[in-house]
Amino acid sequence: GQAQNQNSVLITQEDAKSTSPAGDGAISTESTVTITVVGASGDLAKKKIFPALFALYYEGCLPKHFTVFGYARSKMTDEELRNMISATLTCRIDQRENCGEKMDKFLQRCFYHSGQYNSEECFGQLSKKLEEHEAGRLANRLFYLSIPPDIFVDVARCASHSATSLRGWTRVIVEKPFGRDSQSSAELTRGLKQHLKEEQIYRIDHYLGKELVENLSVLRFSNLVFEPLWSRQYIRNVQLIFSEDFGTEGRGGYFDSYGIIRDIMQNHLLQILALFAMEPPVTLDAEDIRNEKVKVLRSMRVLSSEDVVVGQYKSHTRGGIKYPGYTEDKTVPNNSLTPTFAAAALFIDNARWDGVPFLMKAGKALHTKRAEIRVQFRHVPGNLYKRNFGSDLDLATNELVIRVQPDEAIYLKINNKVPGLGMRLDRSNLHLHYAARYNREIPDAYERLILDAIEGERRLFIRSDELDAAWALFTPLLNELESNKVAPEFYPYGSRGPIGAYYLAAKYNVRWG
Ligand code: NDP
Ligand code: BG6
Repeated sequence: GQAQNQNSVLITQEDAKSTSPAGDGAISTESTVTITVVGASGDLAKKKIFPALFALYYEGCLPKHFTVFGYARSKMTDEELRNMISATLTCRIDQRENCGEKMDKFLQRCFYHSGQYNSEECFGQLSKKLEEHEAGRLANRLFYLSIPPDIFVDVARCASHSATSLRGWTRVIVEKPFGRDSQSSAELTRGLKQHLKEEQIYRIDHYLGKELVENLSVLRFSNLVFEPLWSRQYIRNVQLIFSEDFGTEGRGGYFDSYGIIRDIMQNHLLQILALFAMEPPVTLDAEDIRNEKVKVLRSMRVLSSEDVVVGQYKSHTRGGIKYPGYTEDKTVPNNSLTPTFAAAALFIDNARWDGVPFLMKAGKALHTKRAEIRVQFRHVPGNLYKRNFGSDLDLATNELVIRVQPDEAIYLKINNKVPGLGMRLDRSNLHLHYAARYNREIPDAYERLILDAIEGERRLFIRSDELDAAWALFTPLLNELESNKVAPEFYPYGSRGPIGAYYLAAKYNVRWG
């Protein structure tokens, strides 16, 4: 409704009128949306975007009139696109249901157009096909750029010149990476803004679409018991942890020119940090929330290499199986110094967080797959029970864990009396386990975000000043690591990462959770 109108930067009142699909010359109030996946032949499109679109269709979240178009250079017929998509569609939402019929209906709404990314003519041809499907309705167009970033601007130019909707909004979802440092990111923003208005650009960080990341604000701002504790007064440190138990096989080429700091920390973990640490926004409106996030990012201390440890995985044989080292990938140079692991201590120099270390850790090929936020609280002053904990007072502190994935959960570690006649304490969990509490599948982040983009809700997308602030924090560090050719510390595939990460935490009197 409102959000859609405010976003319809390219329509005039005249344009907004459309003739009825019945062709009777009446003004149609019906609208349609076409979603064009640019780079439809690629990995992300297959793995995430088409399945998310199907899930939205299955859940009845897409408008009555919608069409999906795939666009890429590869030659494909509509039927071939459908075969490609159907191979990755699953009845994820309700495993028991046979959703074959819904899949067929969805696939009938999917079409393909082959073209170049820098050809206005090809986009013009695409536009003609879109028009046929729009059938005179109020036509909204969403372009999802699932392509390498060096062609984002070409596509933005061609789409805005030749395939903009004349009778509705046109929006463009852009995938990360948004540049590789402050300068290249600013160039990309400038390039995109030559062809699109900021309100048409939806910069995706799919971690913002994850259920537990979205829940962070609910947890903080709707529960009296958390928000008053949310400061340096009660919180000793915050940990943001991302680990994967597989390497970069298959994506080595991309990864080698970015590395883990750009791939995970500067975006996914920093976005979580901003949501975690921001002041209460005035309202839940996108601009109010993003204003607060920018303020936190701009209050942060620029990272210094003294507060960062980098690592790279090497091969390791376990149970007779050899797991390859990072540089054994054919698409990675033998002497690559690209970090596949990094740990960092960050600080927010504002009144709420002064002196509280925010420790980030991100790594590939580690012993486990998880993404977590861990909040370690201070000691209870004058704890009457301290002798029950022996010499290790750390054991007596509370810890709140928000497990973003897998097996979503929120739990609070508390001290509790072990039942019985004696006075023995242990640590127990107050535990909200999503699988036990909610009897439904959690939607994939891409579903939430694509739906928001269709609805014109920009709360979970990155504004350009947020992006600038994020790069400003990391760019000097990245320059320093790269110009000094800092060698990463090796860690074996499947391990807990380099020892340096433990020393870094110890420097701030912190133990990783
Ligand atoms: P791909 O490398 O698979 O590229 C997508 C499509 O773009 C290809 O199928 C190809 O289509 C076209 N393409 C590839 N390289 C070039 C090139 N050099 N010049 C012109 N066209 C090219 O990318 P992904 O699908 O993996 O990712 C898409 C975007 O999403 C990227 O920006 C990526 O960084 C980002 N991303 C990907 C994730 C993933 O899990 N894969 C996760 C998060 C972000 P054709 O040849 O048919 O034109
Ligand atoms: C992407 C990174 O943004 O996020 C990948 O480029 C990473 O390297 C992926 O594997 C992790 O996403 P998820 O949703 O699987 O945790």
